Amino acid sequence: MPAIVAMPAIVELRDVSKHFRTAGRDAPVLSNVDLTVETGEIFGIVGHSGAGKSTLIRLVNALERPSGGRVLVEGEDVTAMDEPALRGLRQKIGMIFQHFSLLSAKTVAQNIAFPLRIAGRMGEAEIRARVAALIERVGLSEHTDKYPAQLSGGQKQRVGIARALATGPRLLLCDEATSALDPRTTHSVLSLLDEINRELNLTIVLITHEMQVIRALCDRVAVLDAGRIVESGEVSELFQQPRHPVTEQFVAEFAPVRARRGAAAQP
Ligand SMILES: Nc1ncnc2c1ncn2[C@@H]1O[C@H](COP(=O)(O)OP(=O)(O)OP(=O)(O)O)[C@@H](O)[C@H]1O
Ligand SMILES: [Mg+2]
Repeated sequence: MPAIVAMPAIVELRDVSKHFRTAGRDAPVLSNVDLTVETGEIFGIVGHSGAGKSTLIRLVNALERPSGGRVLVEGEDVTAMDEPALRGLRQKIGMIFQHFSLLSAKTVAQNIAFPLRIAGRMGEAEIRARVAALIERVGLSEHTDKYPAQLSGGQKQRVGIARALATGPRLLLCDEATSALDPRTTHSVLSLLDEINRELNLTIVLITHEMQVIRALCDRVAVLDAGRIVESGEVSELFQQPRHPVTEQFVAEFAPVRARRGAAAQP
């Protein structure tokens, strides 16, 4: 009989804590965080401003180190990695940001080529072909030679996504990636993320303070409040039956204002 080898989860946080030392005092930002993200899913983390979302996501690609606990990516402890291993880790993890973080003096094509040049594994012709395919993939073929200042917010985020995909990552981290966009542009960027999740079997971890983003895109969600995960589960279940007051609050904020007003008017 062939041996059944259990695949490790793509991301696993085990009893993770993080504190920052400011003005001589330790301020806890994350406490006892346990989290598992399975390969291929879109996992959302929702929480208010200051809840610790960005800090949590930055632990996954080792931009931050935990103060306690373990952070595993595909079963490997990122806290134990040396510099070469960290470079390898960061090539399999792409990241996109609220304010895009594009290089303003570089064109669309040059921005997308940038991580490939840093990685140093491809020749010039291969980079050009890869960049052209990525530009096509994110629907920016007419904007190849434009500079970021000449693009709309949605177009800039498409460049961000193409750049994040350049090195062929297995995991994409999204930090408030649609928070600077209007609802229609948000929808088109979320659709693009959904497509690449399915077509490339790319796992996505997405943090947001907007419950509608979670509902539109995620399979599972964790609710982070003051550095702790207060609830997690399937998105549909969480919407139907929120158990924690913070989750209830997020779900209520998502309800139409008129329904809430009506509910409040009930004796
Ligand atoms: N490098 C740092 N040094 C000290 N404190 C920090 C640092 N980074 C974050 N913090 C603190 O950690 C807490 C959580 O910050 P974080 O950026 O993770 O929150 P967030 O949930 O992403 O918020 P937002 O929705 O506003 O982006 C905040 O109180 C913040 O001030
Ligand atoms: Mg943040």
